[in-house]
Amino acid sequence: MKICCIGAGYVGGPTMAVIALKAPDIQVTVVDMNAARIAAWNSDTLPIYEPGLDDVVKEARGRNLFFSTDVKATIAAADIIFVSVNTPTKTYGVGSGRAADLRYIESVARTIAEVSTTPKIIVEKSTIPVKTAETIQQILAANTSGAKFQVLSNPEFLAEGTAVPDLFNPDRVLIGGERTPEGDAAVETLVSVYARWVPRERIITTNLWSSELSKLVANAFLAQRISSINAISALCEATGADVDEVANAIGKDSRIGPKFLKASVGFGGSCFQKDILNLVYLCESFGLPEVAAYWNQVVSMNDYQKRRFSARILKSLFNTVADKRIAVFGFAFKKDTNDTRESAAINVVRDLLAEHANVVVYDPKVPAAEIMSDVLGKGETNPRLTVATSAYEAALDAHAIAIVTEWDEFKTLDYTKIFADMHKPASLFDGRNIVDLAKLRAIGFRAHGIGR
Ligand code: NAD
Ligand code: UDX
Repeated sequence: MKICCIGAGYVGGPTMAVIALKAPDIQVTVVDMNAARIAAWNSDTLPIYEPGLDDVVKEARGRNLFFSTDVKATIAAADIIFVSVNTPTKTYGVGSGRAADLRYIESVARTIAEVSTTPKIIVEKSTIPVKTAETIQQILAANTSGAKFQVLSNPEFLAEGTAVPDLFNPDRVLIGGERTPEGDAAVETLVSVYARWVPRERIITTNLWSSELSKLVANAFLAQRISSINAISALCEATGADVDEVANAIGKDSRIGPKFLKASVGFGGSCFQKDILNLVYLCESFGLPEVAAYWNQVVSMNDYQKRRFSARILKSLFNTVADKRIAVFGFAFKKDTNDTRESAAINVVRDLLAEHANVVVYDPKVPAAEIMSDVLGKGETNPRLTVATSAYEAALDAHAIAIVTEWDEFKTLDYTKIFADMHKPASLFDGRNIVDLAKLRAIGFRAHGIGR
């Protein structure tokens, strides 16, 4: 069996590396039109940072895992084609700012139609609006002579930073297909790939539309929990309640559960906002404005939470941060990843620069050039924004520290030494509730958390 995966990104790369590792008899080739990315996948420095990924790639690469820019030949030779291309929010035309931009999906479908001469199973791995399989089917049908296709939906639920353990041991694998004999056979073929390491009872099969929609709904529910606890964090700050204590108390109720209740500076990442906006747009398109407004509020609350964090810094620093040095600890959207897409850090740094602060960012995995271009735009510079190579360097002569990403190393820094090197009064704003505020106050810091 030969698998081709189109798109060597955060999903395509790790997912295919794990399939190749677990199924040594299947030849897996990941293709991308981005030659630099493919070169990185073939080098010792992979294009994405994920704990455990280097070992997986090292074991399978060259054996049955390959990375290539030869998109057409790899598609032509494959039995199963995973489509793992990006589906960003549209930035133009109808649905701008909310709908998913499906041009990469359509372009892939057209390429598959153009080069295929043998039967193929096409698997939607990308997150897409419900009914996209129909679009793919129509494009294939209109552009091929003879080759038979089955389109399946197999959304990916891995979270960045834990991609490898998530793929090794998924809560579930979801596969949607057409309820026809041919559709059932295609579903079974894909089930047999995952069944090599995923217990059969955790592989759920559904119709196409349930599978496509479940991905958007899963992300909407997860993000909703974060916006809910973040909304409560504002109330905690107003009342003297502690949001972590509240989260612990409610999370003990088995109907609520303890996970995903960590109040923060706001959720980031390439998925949550994009997928909720996509869901909102779908609801509006199907004439359900009340449902759309309900889910849109999850994103509005997240924007509010990010603004609230910057506003609190400003207010605590006597309503002016102009020319003050602010150290920002962390820039990735969460720990254990170098991904900065939609990171709350971008908003916080921009807010501080707008107030004419001198901002010094430190992140253990995000390159300086990425930080500069995320905040300022490609190739732009601003003398007020610099990047440090350690937390200590960033905090030197600073008036305040803002912890924006929950990297473990920020929990064990020598805060006594850091305090000694800062302007007084020295403030610390913990946007992740990872440091002990009482200890910091004992050192002399004016220490603030989220919702406490
Ligand atoms: P990404 O931007 O990191 O990777 C996508 C890759 O596809 C890029 O390298 C791009 O060059 C390539 N590509 C686009 N069009 C192509 C074409 N026609 N031919 C060849 N290559 C092409 O994106 P990602 O984060 O891996 O996400 C991919 C999809 O998976 C999205 O739909 C996303 O919503 C979904 N998803 C992402 C995550 C996540 O954690 N990042 C998790 C679950 C699902
Ligand atoms: C998410 C989904 O979890 C995953 O299933 C899906 O496949 C892709 O989208 P990801 O965005 O990689 O994964 O990371 P996730 O762990 O969900 O975190 C998203 C954001 O929410 C991060 O900024 C994180 O810091 C924040 N978060 C998460 C909180 O603020 N509080 C929490 O309790 C959990």
